[in-house]
Amino acid sequence: MQLKSYLLPFLSLASTLTATPITPEKPSLQSRSSSGCFEITQFRNSGSPHSISATVSFDLVDRSKNLAATCRAILSIQPSIVTTQFPTYCNDSSVAFGFEYNPPFPGYWLYIAHIYNNNNTVDGGSIWAGRDVRRYDNPSGNPNGDYDYLNFPAEFSVGYNRHVQELPVSTAVSTAAPTP
Ligand SMILES: *[C@@H]1O[C@H](CO)[C@@H](O)[C@H](O)[C@H]1NC(C)=O
Ligand SMILES: *[C@@H]1O[C@H](CO)[C@@H](O)[C@H](O)[C@H]1NC(C)=O
Repeated sequence: MQLKSYLLPFLSLASTLTATPITPEKPSLQSRSSSGCFEITQFRNSGSPHSISATVSFDLVDRSKNLAATCRAILSIQPSIVTTQFPTYCNDSSVAFGFEYNPPFPGYWLYIAHIYNNNNTVDGGSIWAGRDVRRYDNPSGNPNGDYDYLNFPAEFSVGYNRHVQELPVSTAVSTAAPTP
């Protein structure tokens, strides 16, 4: 299966803003691209129609940031593929994800974001997870062993782009009043 990651359309204001001289007391906003990626392992999204319990879970690492997180959402739902809105927090609260299905656009989307640097830097990316939901039939014939699952690889990577917001330092705000 060919995987393709789609970058979230984060703000890209850097070119317009840096072209205009900004006085030091005004807030500035910068945006940069980066070629980082989240490496995902142990991905699954499945549930048993009989127990009415479903789980989406995965492990995430970003080697460039020495980041490791486990992300999970468990719901009692029918049908048995879990959707959870962004931001659903991972075990490390600087990482959040969403797993969403927004018809009529066909298929599931996984969104991931890592926020750090005093909440001023966000690495964010997303991937389309398709819509291939299958039923596993327990070969023993016991229907309690059946479950539904989203047919998607357990290991993949999600490219992200990086947005850095630089806020004014408080000394500049207190000493320099805006000129009319
Ligand atoms: C989150 O889980 C990962 C394992 O995937 C672990 O390495 C990390 O220390 C955990 N983080 C926290 C804050 O518990
Ligand atoms: C980042 O934002 C979260 C949510 O508002 C808040 O709980 C946390 O304290 C913030 N962290 C920093 C370093 O400002």
